[in-house]
Formats: sequence, structure tokens, C-alpha cells
Amino acid sequence: MSGAAPPVPPLDDRDGVIWLDGAFVPWREARLHVLSHGLHYGGSVFEGERVYDGRVFALSEHSARLVASARHMGYALPWTAAELDAVTREVVAAADLTDGYVRPVAWRGGDTLRLVAPDSRVHLAVAAWPWPRIFTEGPRGIRLRTSRWRRPAPDTAPIRAKAAALYAIGALAGQEAEEAGFDDALLLDHRGRLAEATGANLFLVIDGELHTPPPECVLDGITRRTVIGLAGGLGLPVVERHLAPAELDRATEVFLTGTAYEVQPVTGVDGRSFPLGEVGAALTEAYARAVRAGGADRSGYPAPAGAGSDTG
Ligand SMILES: Cc1ncc(COP(=O)(O)O)c(C=O)c1O
Repeated sequence: MSGAAPPVPPLDDRDGVIWLDGAFVPWREARLHVLSHGLHYGGSVFEGERVYDGRVFALSEHSARLVASARHMGYALPWTAAELDAVTREVVAAADLTDGYVRPVAWRGGDTLRLVAPDSRVHLAVAAWPWPRIFTEGPRGIRLRTSRWRRPAPDTAPIRAKAAALYAIGALAGQEAEEAGFDDALLLDHRGRLAEATGANLFLVIDGELHTPPPECVLDGITRRTVIGLAGGLGLPVVERHLAPAELDRATEVFLTGTAYEVQPVTGVDGRSFPLGEVGAALTEAYARAVRAGGADRSGYPAPAGAGSDTG
């Protein structure tokens, strides 16, 4: 660790306010009870959003996904997506944030520890704070290590939910990758096909086309959708299909997409090396422009109200 790096205060010991269940509370007092259902059984759902120039990129899509994630986990949020949008804007304004990160999180409370708890109260908090890019400020590639942990099948867990339970897998995979000296883990799906990193979707450039796994066993990333749209604008064909790990041998570039990662080039997967290529650079630039130029608050994520639909 560099001696020059300023100490990062722990997340639970900062000044400011957090929105909790309808009101702002002092940052350090935004607490939940130790007997909360969401803490014990992994059913909490959350979002990760980025603020650019004071506005949350794709806010309504994130709010809609949060509502849908709760529904996939068997409960209803006491707030609509539109109300979440409004609350999030208030939180960003209260934090006086120009560029940063927003974390809404919802969970069943401490009414009961019965596993089946349909009447448990649902809580919601929204916090926002300044946050830089997670790996690097410059166009540096990262190195991934294929994990022994896999993304579960869609009939094993509600894969469309951005739910805490699923992040237990990513946390294990990421820790093992870092302990082995890599930046992040690459997870395969339950059938051994390429899936995603711990917090980002995967793209391979093969013969000048973008190839990415369909959102069956991976999170249906909002950045992924954005990048697919941007690729269209750049005349880059996009193929959504299942990919075998051996297809990495044919890839001329590899990159990840995610709210936190943005467009993140990958320069290594296990023993393979990839260059920082033109396609990744063009999409990095296009994405950086999109998030700051009117992309905030655009809608497009499927509305959770879609009765019985599984597209959330
Ligand atoms: C497992 C996983 N995959 C993909 C993504 C990318 O999703 P998004 O682009 O919506 O941030 C994330 C981040 O939320 C994630 O946690």
C-alpha cells in the first residue's frame, strides 16, 4: 500500500445524512436491528448507481430494477420506482454530490425470524457518497482469474434479482482472486460457460464483433444495455450468445461493463493476455460521453408493473 494514500474513513463512520424509511437520519445512526430477516437470510436487494455532474445515470432504470428485485425475492417495496427516483435525487442533493455513488438497499426487518415472513416490514435506505473509479483512473487493463465458484442456474436462484444472497458467491470468488494476485474473478455459469465478473458483465471482441453472454445466468446489467446501444451507434455488431471459455483464445479484446466498473478493459484472464484495444477504447469514450450528456434519468428498464413478467 502506498504511504501517500490518504486514509479512507470506514463507511459507517462518516459525516452527512442517509435517507432511511422516509426521513434523513445522521450518517452514523442509519442502523438496522441484528435480528433483521434480510441480514440472516440474504433477501435484501440493492442497487449501485453513479452520479455524473450531479445526476444519477439511468436513475429510473435502477429504481425499476430495485422494485423488480424485491418482487423476485418475494416482497413488495413500500415505495414506487417514481418515488425512489425522487428520493434518490434528494439524497444526491443533500450529499452535494457532483460525481459519486448511490446505494439504495431494501430488506425485510426484524418482525420475525421465520423464514417465511410475508408480513415482515420492508425497510429502505439510500446513501450517496463521493467515489472514484474502482480500479484505476487511467486506461489500465485488469487481470481476471477464473473462479471455482459459478453463477447458479436460473432455476436455482432468482438470477434477475440484484439480491444479497447472490453476492455471497461473488464475494467468495473475488476474495480468492485477489488473494491469488488478480484484480477480479471471472465466474462461469452452472454449465461452465463464460458468465461475468463479480460486479460486471463480460464482452469479448471476436472478428470485430462484440460477443456477450445473454442475461440468463448473469445480471441484466444497465451498463451492458447501454454499451450494446452505443456499439450499434459505432457500427459494431453485437452477438448475444453462450460462450465457451475456450473462445477467449479467439478474442482480440476483452472488457467488462458495470455501473461501478464503467467500461473496464481486461488485459489478462488466467494465463492469457489481451491488449488494450481500439474497440474497448472507443466504447470507453462513448460511454464516458453518454453518462454525462443527457443520459441521466433516461428510462428504458422494463417497468416492474408488467404483470407476471419476468423481465425485471
Ligand atoms: C454481478 C453483476 N453483474 C453485472 C453488473 C453490472 O450491472 P450494471 O451495469 O447494471 O451496474 C453488476 C453490477 O451491478 C453486478 O453486480
